[in-house]
Amino acid sequence: MENNATVSIYGEHKPALEKTMNQILTHITEIRKKMEAELGMDPVEHCLSRIKGEESMREKCRRKNLPETTESALGKIYDAIGLRIVCAFVDDVYTIRDFIVNSGRYEIITEKDYIRRAKPNGYRSYHMILKADGQYYAEIQLRTISMDTWAALEHHLKYKKKVSGRQELIVDELKRCADELASTDLSMQTLRDMILEYNGADD
Ligand code: GTP
Ligand code: MG
Repeated sequence: MENNATVSIYGEHKPALEKTMNQILTHITEIRKKMEAELGMDPVEHCLSRIKGEESMREKCRRKNLPETTESALGKIYDAIGLRIVCAFVDDVYTIRDFIVNSGRYEIITEKDYIRRAKPNGYRSYHMILKADGQYYAEIQLRTISMDTWAALEHHLKYKKKVSGRQELIVDELKRCADELASTDLSMQTLRDMILEYNGADD
């Protein structure tokens, strides 16, 4: 047997994982084009994708008490393939979600709506686990720019919590910021609706 460290936890699957990820990305591009035709604007600010890094996947196996094997990485952990779609407005998140589900291209494994039901710390996003090509799982995170901003800042602060000595205050303030951003998202959505209505009435 070869040493674990020299063999990818993905075995020979890495190229196929990349291919599947790129197929999903192409699909997302198609959805964006359809929505742009309808809305007159591309609803996606940016879209990121990645294959989970070797060490990060191994760490997650350990955290979940799974053996560090290809079987765990592809069959027990669902985010070897990860996509993050960041939208301008909240409605776009749900429209893209509907396009993905109604395309019939994927088996939808789970959906978690952390937008309607934010996590206790204030985290918001719409998460989907799906199976593509009848073979590989992928995690798709859909969120607005505001939600993305908050998640990025919170991620930075997570590692600094221990030294602060003011954890409670920080947790409370973070939650407050998340709620304020969510309120701003609602206002921006209302503005967008008003503009769309106005433009519709115009022609
Ligand atoms: P994992 O075991 O890590 O997959 O978590 P889970 O199965 O509980 O899944 P969940 O849907 O809660 O979170 C999956 C991913 O969402 C994480 O890997 C992060 O990218 C993101 N996420 C979830 N909660 C938070 C949070 O509180 N802050 C930030 N910044 N990201 C989060
Ligand atoms: Mg997860």
